[in-house]
Amino acid sequence: MTAIVDLDPAVAAALKSALGHSIVLDSVDAVRRHIDTNLGEDTIVVGPTVDLDSAFELASLMRVQRPSLGVILVRRRVDTNVLSSAMRMGVRDVVEERDIAAIASAVTRSKEVARALRQSFPEGETAEPGPSRGRLITVFSAKGGCGKTTLSTNLAAMLADNGTNEVVLVDLDLAFGDVAIALQMFPKHTIADAVPIGDDLDESALRSLLTNHSPGLTALAAPMQPGVEKTIDSSLVTHILSLLKDMFDYVVVDTPPAFDDQVLAAFDASDAIALIATLDIPALKNLKLTLETLDLLDYPRENWNLVLNRADSKVGLSISEVEKTLGHSIGAQIPSSRDVPATINRGVPIVLDDPKHPVTDAVRQVALQAFGEFRSEDSIPDTEISGDRRSFMRRKGKS
Ligand SMILES: Nc1ncnc2c1ncn2[C@@H]1O[C@H](COP(=O)(O)OP(=O)(O)OP(=O)(O)O)[C@@H](O)[C@H]1O
Ligand SMILES: [Mg+2]
Repeated sequence: MTAIVDLDPAVAAALKSALGHSIVLDSVDAVRRHIDTNLGEDTIVVGPTVDLDSAFELASLMRVQRPSLGVILVRRRVDTNVLSSAMRMGVRDVVEERDIAAIASAVTRSKEVARALRQSFPEGETAEPGPSRGRLITVFSAKGGCGKTTLSTNLAAMLADNGTNEVVLVDLDLAFGDVAIALQMFPKHTIADAVPIGDDLDESALRSLLTNHSPGLTALAAPMQPGVEKTIDSSLVTHILSLLKDMFDYVVVDTPPAFDDQVLAAFDASDAIALIATLDIPALKNLKLTLETLDLLDYPRENWNLVLNRADSKVGLSISEVEKTLGHSIGAQIPSSRDVPATINRGVPIVLDDPKHPVTDAVRQVALQAFGEFRSEDSIPDTEISGDRRSFMRRKGKS
């Protein structure tokens, strides 16, 4: 992926439309955070409104910390002074803003260099940690029935964005998983089939265990037989999630309502953790305990995304009271809607069924909070998206 940083949203949008699939960030600090959590990032395009000193500081830092990552400097005008200082500071390319073709080919070159560097210095032989292509979010609540499967299926469909990204949804509710039912899929294989393969499990073997749902969305189903879950240990889960992070843009993990070893393995692999609760005292008490446990286990707070489901319930608890009690802000609120069970009964996540539904808006909010921009908003007009999804719905309806 490519990250674009510019302080002016209009300039950033113009660069994004020239470069296609990319993430827009609005400050150099946001770039630092982005690359810390995205070890697979290979190119940063620094736009013309970012001052030269900050751009040079970023480039020289990257030269030491992440040699494969290329910084491309875009300036209104390029003169020999800028060019020579940039090269000294470790900038990979300097291009003029109006030369869109040159910017695009600088990005392509940067990606080729990154790939070559990574091949020449495989994991362990370089100062960089092994980069993975994708980012992983675990959806968790310690209390059952709060909406984990609802959120994870919808989040996966939202991130897949009708084929813009490749997403895998992993059903880690190994005893009672119902992702396959919620998506009306009939898996030929499940995670249980990975057990006999063990350490020999590689990408191609794992791919054969996945079930396709809709464009960009694939799932690894939970076992069908009772009792099998005991054979799936946390080291196998770690191995599977690590392979999936290399194979997909996003990995979404649905979980059981318990802190078991497999869930902890998922937390360890997570770039973001969505913690979901409903507006009732038992659910909120469990959420509070969960936050305390995550603190004890040192999972960084900036990766937590608190989500309230059925947030419009009139139960006499205000959001600000809840935030005060939890000591953490609520990132998204999913309203209660009878369309949620209705769409689950048809096996189509509500985000695909109705892109403008308030529940869809809330799921988009979770995705944005966790990963920033995950799609090119301007690549497909809204009407076309709903058209595509309607035709997808008709296909699902027939099967
Ligand atoms: N926002 C909502 N509006 C209406 N119904 C909802 C909403 N969210 C979830 N539900 C319904 O609540 C029920 C429980 O949701 P879900 O299965 O997603 O919870 P869960 O946390 O995965 O449960 P479990 O712990 O059993 O795995 C389902 O019937 C679902 O359709
Ligand atoms: Mg569930």
